[in-house]
Amino acid sequence: MELTVDVRPAAQMEAEALVTYLFDQEKPEIGILAQLDTATSGAISKLAASGELTGTLYETTLLHYPQGLAAERVLIIGAGKKEKFGTLDLRRIAGAAVRALKSRQIKRIAFLARENERSAAAAQAIAEGMILANYDSDKYKTDKKPGNEITSAALAGWDVSSRTGADAGLARGRITAESQNFARDLGNEPSNRLTPRLLAERAAAMARESGLAVDILDEKKMAELKMGALLSVAQGSAEPPRLIVLTYTPPNLDPNAPVLGLVGKAITFDTGGISIKPSNDMEKMKYDMCGGAAMLGSMRALAVLKPSCKIIAVIPSSENMPGGRAQKPGDVQIAMSGKSIEVINTDAEGRLVLADGVTYARQLGCTHLVDAATLTGAVVTALASINAGVFGTDQAFTDQLLASAKAAGEKMWQLPLDDEYRDFIKSGVADIQNVGSGKGGGAITGAMFIREFTGDTPWVHLDIAGTAWQDDVKPWNAKGATGVAVRTLVDLAMKFK
Ligand code: BES
Ligand code: ZN
Ligand code: ZN
Repeated sequence: MELTVDVRPAAQMEAEALVTYLFDQEKPEIGILAQLDTATSGAISKLAASGELTGTLYETTLLHYPQGLAAERVLIIGAGKKEKFGTLDLRRIAGAAVRALKSRQIKRIAFLARENERSAAAAQAIAEGMILANYDSDKYKTDKKPGNEITSAALAGWDVSSRTGADAGLARGRITAESQNFARDLGNEPSNRLTPRLLAERAAAMARESGLAVDILDEKKMAELKMGALLSVAQGSAEPPRLIVLTYTPPNLDPNAPVLGLVGKAITFDTGGISIKPSNDMEKMKYDMCGGAAMLGSMRALAVLKPSCKIIAVIPSSENMPGGRAQKPGDVQIAMSGKSIEVINTDAEGRLVLADGVTYARQLGCTHLVDAATLTGAVVTALASINAGVFGTDQAFTDQLLASAKAAGEKMWQLPLDDEYRDFIKSGVADIQNVGSGKGGGAITGAMFIREFTGDTPWVHLDIAGTAWQDDVKPWNAKGATGVAVRTLVDLAMKFK
């Protein structure tokens, strides 16, 4: 999708559809909406008076060939309650407009921002909403309709004096959302077409295009580094594991500056291993690499946006299979850190690969860590697919992440990590065991396990098991992989000092 800022007056915008929005129970009486109403000889106010146009969130009302406007159509999206409206809703209604129009074979649109939304942040949200909504995962459909997408969108409403902000917001929104779609592509890929080796190849190709340094560790190198936890997960599979390391280094880096580490779980398929999962819904376990995909998407965007801090992404990737060499319940593994782990349940494999991922990231010099992982079914029970679970050992750093999530319009909710939960992972045989001793708190238990490997490094854990995948299409988004955490992590890295 080609995106531009267009400063012409709304009435002169030539597009197949000019989009704007109306709040719940609002009448088009002020500002740009009043102007549109006048230009269309009261068409909008008549629809509002008739009760057809109400402003309910995501309502779509289409006017054809409006007299007095250069555009061929006007689409009015319901924006919901004005008091609740923020950039999260702005992003979603821009997306809802794209999805409503692309299904009608419309190609060229203009989105008219209203008076209160003429900031760089608003332009960014609109650009992101449109690019994310234009995405559909139909790669393997041989009968897909050609070009069922919006090809160009203009951002309107800004004037010559405010357009600098709009241009900047648009540019940032474009790279961020395209990178989130890059992460979604990886998440939607079936596991036979995205093994750990193929994921590493795609990461390396992206790194080369983006100018990031890349290092891919194979199983031999992992053995040299004594990554016993990661290798234990991989041993049941015919496909070898990979550890992907991408590094962004800013120019003129102060050697004492903090280094942000992004660790992502990338299990390209999770059968559960010997503790095998039920077959129902197992096909979805191809998305068990979405933590890693989020880190790759974030790095892709950051390579362009050039934050002032150094960032290292560490992505342990493996299949979790019940092969003849697979680890078995009760096996004891020694992690890279030296800690011994009793593997009670081979399906709790994400925390095993992250244990070594986190240790390696610290060894590489990361002073702050964020991990993202589709770690537990329990976080889905707690927060459904609405909020990602957030855990942290350093409240100031956790608050930075939560503030970035808010700014990026990604819903995330902090859960506790009290020391009392440490008892849950006590083992009778080894230093720790990889599952809780059966008293609930499954998402916390997973986080407590990873915490064992973070030492004194400030660390935030994102459990995205519920939010990395959407089963249903939304007015603003296709179903499937969501690319969650990319926007939050990009925002965090851009502000990180
Ligand atoms: N990949 C799963 C978690 C998951 C569940 C992701 C649902 C997406 C949707 C993870 O590896 C897993 O199997 N976790 C177990 C842990 C348990 C054995 C302690 C779980 O949550 O059931
Ligand atoms: Zn599992
Ligand atoms: Zn898993």
